[in-house]
Amino acid sequence: MACRKNVVAIDGPAASGKSTVAALVAERLGATYVNTGNMYRAVTLAALRRFGDAGLSEEDVVGMLGDIELEYTNVGDGAFALKLDGEDVGMEIRSPEVAKFVSKVAAMPAVREWLVKKQRAFADEGTIVMEGRDIGTVVFPDAKRKFFLSASPEVRAKRRLAQAGECVDGATISSVAKEIAERDKRDMERPVSPLKKADDAIAVDTSDMTIDEVVDFIADNVEGGAT
Ligand code: DC
Repeated sequence: MACRKNVVAIDGPAASGKSTVAALVAERLGATYVNTGNMYRAVTLAALRRFGDAGLSEEDVVGMLGDIELEYTNVGDGAFALKLDGEDVGMEIRSPEVAKFVSKVAAMPAVREWLVKKQRAFADEGTIVMEGRDIGTVVFPDAKRKFFLSASPEVRAKRRLAQAGECVDGATISSVAKEIAERDKRDMERPVSPLKKADDAIAVDTSDMTIDEVVDFIADNVEGGAT
């Protein structure tokens, strides 16, 4: 398969540090950063607003797709702002409520198809760093470089707890670790585009690495590696 030179794919489970790292790698490479998890979260938010948490049937959610507008608006300097029906939903999509339901919505094949089409359109935006669960396996199997980030469950729970607003009040390391483990299980076991390392992705265990070390490792590999 021809190599798509302009795409760096970063995949991995929840709270593995992907977003922080991918944004910094993009900055260093002068590339556009795309967080695909936020797209699944925005669809989930739209569905929760319309149907409530008891009503997220596949039929309802898929039927809703024709009625919503989800755009990444180019705001310059390689930055894109995610808008749902024209509204900036950056904060609301990080809520514990959205986190609880997002892997259910992300398992719906028609939702994935709808979003993957939007994700592939970014290939026209110059160099891109795209992060998610299936970027190296499904969205851009021909990406120039692929990385699969992981970290121990305890480290990931600590990182998630440190991110203000993403956990319910009273959350502990063990309750957050349990929530992350449940989401990973659903993401890994879904029949369509499961969370999985691409055979040709470089595995990076970030448990004992600083953010800067991970960024350097990835950016050096992209800049210095053979094309
Ligand atoms: O990266 P994140 O935790 O914000 O992602 C939220 C959810 O979206 C995650 O539980 C799985 C789903 N997702 C996906 O299925 N495919 C992607 N490419 C990105 C995210």
